[in-house]
Amino acid sequence: MNAQKIADDIYRIAVNIEDRDYRFEGIWPLPNGISINAYLIRDEKNVLIDLTQDIMDFPRDFSAQLGDASLSVEDIDIVVVNHMEPDHTGWLREFCARNSKAVIYCSEKAVPLLAAFMGIGAGRIVVVTDGMTLSLGRHELQFFSTPNIHWPETIMTWERTRGILFSGDAFGSYGSVPADVMSDGRITAERRRFYLDEARRYYANIVATFSASVLKGIEKIARLDIRIICPSHGIVWQERPGEIVEEYRRLAGYGSGPGEREVTLVWGSMYGNTEKAVGTITDALRARGIPVRVFHVPADDVSYILASAWRSNGLIFCMPTYDYQMFPPMAHVIDELLRKRMRNKKVFRCGSYGWVGGAQKDFLAMTEKSGWEICGSYEWKGAMTGQDHGTLRRLVGEFADRVIA
Ligand SMILES: Cc1cc2nc3c(=O)[nH]c(=O)nc-3n(C[C@H](O)[C@H](O)[C@H](O)COP(=O)(O)O)c2cc1C
Ligand SMILES: [Fe+2]
Ligand SMILES: [Fe+2]
Repeated sequence: MNAQKIADDIYRIAVNIEDRDYRFEGIWPLPNGISINAYLIRDEKNVLIDLTQDIMDFPRDFSAQLGDASLSVEDIDIVVVNHMEPDHTGWLREFCARNSKAVIYCSEKAVPLLAAFMGIGAGRIVVVTDGMTLSLGRHELQFFSTPNIHWPETIMTWERTRGILFSGDAFGSYGSVPADVMSDGRITAERRRFYLDEARRYYANIVATFSASVLKGIEKIARLDIRIICPSHGIVWQERPGEIVEEYRRLAGYGSGPGEREVTLVWGSMYGNTEKAVGTITDALRARGIPVRVFHVPADDVSYILASAWRSNGLIFCMPTYDYQMFPPMAHVIDELLRKRMRNKKVFRCGSYGWVGGAQKDFLAMTEKSGWEICGSYEWKGAMTGQDHGTLRRLVGEFADRVIA
């Protein structure tokens, strides 16, 4: 990769994870890769905002890109750590060993983390407070405390002179960013939609749990005249930065309010008896004009189910009984949804059983404290009869009315 110029003396220094077997945070699949972005401001003091992970040949690539801006590791005066997650700080220990003068700017909560993860002591750290400014010469920075988006010590860095927000993981997306792309101003509408979709999946996987903090953070930056948003993953939002902020406001709002008037349906089946219900349900929803996205477990990764379910007002789970409990892959999905503090959902569950059942009891126990409104359920023994299909169609119709109420 090459360093990419964003404005005078401001560059994006980025690497792409292209290994399709690599899972982000050890969990989330990356079929389209992901970029890890840092930013360089060249001034009387040279500043890096975030760094890179210490994997593959990223440090070497990163150093070479500093060269594109006629600088080397030794020329950096300040490293701003927006948050401490190792995808952006992994290389910091070695970086500080190579550059003994560089000072780290971070929040107070980051100080013990820098010691624990990197062995970096207070002597090399400047603690920034909320609203504090720093003049670099031609550019002026301001730091905002935005805790819990998504680590506790998170800050955002605001470049006041040009109106550029270095937002860390907020407003970021999965998806590699080719060298000739960089910003939303240089891509097709279709490609822009791709990054927006991947931003939603990123949000549901990584940020959703902290939605209340996201809303507070957005309030804090809302008064800024933002021209460009530079997140630590994905494209730079340069063309219409307000759109991704609004999208974040919407996504964070689903954490405490209703979702869209649509349904996410997740099904799993051993021998096809539960699978037979899926067509009946989707027909019943579509007859009422309700959009539905269908996922099959364990084939479809929970990363995508989270992204869909986070936005939907209605959730439908179809799974049989297995060892007196829910079909295990479905239990895993529901557990993940609840860990993300997904609440305020209207929910319907159905499935086949063979002996005395057990999935429904397990499902109700697991979701007891979920905040979900269990609007209905239906079970049948063995194969579905015509009567079962009729009953299910009617119950799903009633459920649909609740979803759009
Ligand atoms: C491994 C296994 C475990 C099962 N455990 C139970 C059970 O605990 N209780 C029950 O009522 N039926 C149980 N069954 C029966 C299934 O729930 C029943 O065959 C159902 O129709 C399967 O639905 P499917 O075709 O959608 O997989 C089990 C079946 C299998 C294969
Ligand atoms: Fe992070
Ligand atoms: Fe990150």
